[in-house]
Amino acid sequence: MTSSSPDPAVTFAPLLAEIRALYGPGPIPLHRPVFEGPERRWLVDCIDSNFVSSVGARVTEFEERVAAFTGARFAVATVNGTAALHVALLLAGVTADTEVLTQALTFVATCNAVRYAQAWPVFIDVDRDTLSLSPVALAAFLDRHAERRADGVYNRTSGRRLAACVPMHTFGLPGRIAEIVALCDHWGLPVVEDAAESLGSWVAVGEGWRHTGTFGRLGTLSFNGNKIITTGGGGMILTDAPDLAARAKHLTTTAKIPHPYEFVHDETGYNYRLPNLNAALGCAQMARLPEMLAVKERIAARYAAVPSIHLIPPLPGTHPNHWLNAVLLDTPAAREALLTFSNAQGIMTRPIWRLMHRLPMYQHCQHDGLANSLWLEARVVNLPSSVPEGAMGDYGAP
Ligand SMILES: Cc1ncc(COP(=O)(O)O)c(C=O)c1O
Repeated sequence: MTSSSPDPAVTFAPLLAEIRALYGPGPIPLHRPVFEGPERRWLVDCIDSNFVSSVGARVTEFEERVAAFTGARFAVATVNGTAALHVALLLAGVTADTEVLTQALTFVATCNAVRYAQAWPVFIDVDRDTLSLSPVALAAFLDRHAERRADGVYNRTSGRRLAACVPMHTFGLPGRIAEIVALCDHWGLPVVEDAAESLGSWVAVGEGWRHTGTFGRLGTLSFNGNKIITTGGGGMILTDAPDLAARAKHLTTTAKIPHPYEFVHDETGYNYRLPNLNAALGCAQMARLPEMLAVKERIAARYAAVPSIHLIPPLPGTHPNHWLNAVLLDTPAAREALLTFSNAQGIMTRPIWRLMHRLPMYQHCQHDGLANSLWLEARVVNLPSSVPEGAMGDYGAP
């Protein structure tokens, strides 16, 4: 900020007062896990059962709970969200030296998973209002660079096959997913939705609502410690296709052919199994999810009412999970001022991720200029968004 800039102590006073009102004195993290329900009971039961590792009934139960909640026909648990993305990409047909169209404005795991599949990310811009992949930018890129050939769609510029598109619902705000899927269908490109941040986020479709992560051929979730619910570490692959679900289970469980005692594996699979102990935690957390979502909606409403800040609102026709609230600052200097001022007071705020094409391992990847992504990178800050201690009452308690 320059000497003529407004004083952050004045500009951000109402915001910081609201954060303190929500979370009280002392250091305030960006997002903390909440274990105020039946978690202990589920974990103790799991330990008592002795099935704490890669075999056990809780994994199936957790998968069933997530499938029922999201409306996906199948849910396959994995050890984390990155592993879920990796396998989902393989199942979508991503192979070595192909390309995946995705966002530069995302957490690094999205791109790392593309590289695990030995493919390359190509970065398409996001929309300023959703922070998620722009169907307009995607259409422009495809019109300019894509070419249909007998065995698929190719990027004329690189000569590589375009194997998939991975939109991501940033901070739980649903993007323009129906338009993206329609466009990708037109080009014959499978969509793998990175819904790591959007468990509990919905999009209006006709008379009803459809969960994020269920629009693409496959979708993935994360249950990392900072997510809306956590299994410590964990992820999930969502799909409606029985063959993909079966392949996902096979590939993530070392490609072992089921047998009471023989160890036979029919391909190089992955040890991406979610341990039963983590799945037990997931079952308990799922029991609290509706109430957590209700509390988070109230937090977002309070932030939205704070004067002199602009909370990024959800797109009409979407219902976000309000996982991480984000504000848009007027200038890069204001962003810096809020980050410095709040963190100095023990209130954790965080800038959006450094764009992927600016990281050393992805700086050579093709992109479309990313004007909106760069604009957002310089202005977006996340606010503390945890469910405050005790805010859920005795809902779902043991
Ligand atoms: C957008 C996005 N994709 C993927 C992941 C990967 O999930 P995990 O940390 O469970 O591997 C995360 C979260 O960590 C994420 O935020």
